[in-house]
Amino acid sequence: MTINDPWGLTGRSVVVMGAGGGGIGTAIARHLGAAGASIVAVDIDADKLAVCTDALTAEGVDHLGLLADGRDREAVTDVVEQATRLAPLHGSVHVAGGMWPPQWAPFASDDPAFDDVMDLNFGATVNTVRAVGRKLVEEGRTGALVNIATTSAINGMPFGSAYAAAKAAVLSLTRSLAVEWGPRGIRVNAVAPGSIATPKSASTRKPGDTDGDDLLVIPMRRRGTSDDIARGVLFMISEMSAYVTGQLLCIDGGTSVRPTYNDRDELPVFVHNEELRARLARW
Ligand SMILES: NC(=O)c1ccc[n+]([C@@H]2O[C@H](COP(=O)([O-])OP(=O)(O)OC[C@H]3O[C@@H](n4cnc5c(N)ncnc54)[C@H](O)[C@@H]3O)[C@@H](O)[C@H]2O)c1
Repeated sequence: MTINDPWGLTGRSVVVMGAGGGGIGTAIARHLGAAGASIVAVDIDADKLAVCTDALTAEGVDHLGLLADGRDREAVTDVVEQATRLAPLHGSVHVAGGMWPPQWAPFASDDPAFDDVMDLNFGATVNTVRAVGRKLVEEGRTGALVNIATTSAINGMPFGSAYAAAKAAVLSLTRSLAVEWGPRGIRVNAVAPGSIATPKSASTRKPGDTDGDDLLVIPMRRRGTSDDIARGVLFMISEMSAYVTGQLLCIDGGTSVRPTYNDRDELPVFVHNEELRARLARW
């Protein structure tokens, strides 16, 4: 890191697993690329990958686009080999994950989607982190890894227990590896998005849907953007956070610290004293 390169990413490669689709992964690839990193953009879907690589090309970012399934251990190992040929490896951001409407189910129903959700959200993270960490250790390099979690990992998610459990496992892995690899100068952190407006989250809505009263549960009264997440990831993967490891950065407009029993006036629902309510409402 120098005063002219505050991020310390110039000439180093970063694997972004799940970089396609124009959502969080694409924004991360673009922000890290703009900060000087050589980007290895990886996705399972060719059309989605092209959304990212087209943007990186237009922005003059040194990059490589690779099609691979993050759940396939050998494929991920090969991705890391290719990354080292693009530029000396710095680290990774594991983005690939999520849960789709057909996968929501009561826990007691023995739904077969449970294992699939665990496999994508935890298994694929394990593959990326292991392949990248192992390579950094083999080459004796320092570096940084960031794993994308969710605020559901610290709360819970009824009918989405596999998703919350898998991402909670990602947080646990992040902490263990921060300690295991700390002496080698390899940092491992996590970022937990709150509700982020992405092309994927838009696909689960009906045309004309608006956020309306839904925004009342978010202290900052807006949904996040992919750029909000990318800026936090850039901090966590760069020299700006050189002494930070094993930590979780929630980027959620304050949702994770808001008491769930608050009403629209941000008072607990069980506060009925009209005088008190009127006095505070004037503020
Ligand atoms: N959007 C939100 O509100 C939100 C909230 C909390 C957490 N997150 C997390 O952020 C991440 C990205 O979310 P998004 O909304 O941008 O999702 P997205 O589905 O738009 O982006 C993920 C990308 O990963 C790719 N991908 C999926 N499976 C893959 C696999 N097996 N191997 C490689 N690539 C694969 C997809 O093709 C897609 O391009 C996910 O981990 C999600 O759990 C999102």
